[in-house]
Amino acid sequence: ENRFDVVIAVDGPAASGKGTIARALAAHFGLPHMDTGSLYRAVGFAVLRAGGDPADAALATACARTLDVKMLDDPALRESTTARAASVVSAHPEVRAALLECQQAFARQPGGAVLDGRDIGTVIAPDADLKIFVTASLDVRAKRRQAETPERDYAVVRANLAERDARDSGRDAAPLRQADDSILLDTSDMDRETAIARAIALAEARLAEK
Ligand code: DC
Repeated sequence: ENRFDVVIAVDGPAASGKGTIARALAAHFGLPHMDTGSLYRAVGFAVLRAGGDPADAALATACARTLDVKMLDDPALRESTTARAASVVSAHPEVRAALLECQQAFARQPGGAVLDGRDIGTVIAPDADLKIFVTASLDVRAKRRQAETPERDYAVVRANLAERDARDSGRDAAPLRQADDSILLDTSDMDRETAIARAIALAEARLAEK
């Protein structure tokens, strides 16, 4: 049940566990959840499908403006080629602008919401009731990602994540960074259940103050 009118922002690098934590928080509090990375993945995939280059800002922006929400649970969005394209298209400010309104509307819906991404606490929902910045070491994240994609070489998975980290943190438009008022949750030494329990405890403590 939804006991609170609350917005929770969960940000962090690729394969940090932010999606798992955001989904668990949403289920715990009965809140709707938006995986904002899937929006950028859908744009990246649309560009690739059109035979274009994700670095092409005009094409990426056109794809963002005509985004088909039916695309958002396509398994192709989870592939590493799509992840890379998502990271590239997400650096274009016009792409980010085209996706801003639907994310902010989601965050503002009555009852509240949980959103996860890179810039939820900094740009999309700067007034969120709770901001959690989920992180883990590159090695741990690469191992987790490799476990999801067993056919892939550890060194390749790790290099792809490092490349994405550098691009997502180094861009000018809404770079990945921890908001000043967010709580750091380093899951390097935590299993899934421990990380979820810790996030729920943080959220319960914050909401008790509300
Ligand atoms: O969370 P993810 O791995 O599905 O995100 C894919 C890419 O989308 C990521 O490398 C950067 C971009 N992204 C973003 O720029 N802002 C967000 N709020 C979410 C994702």
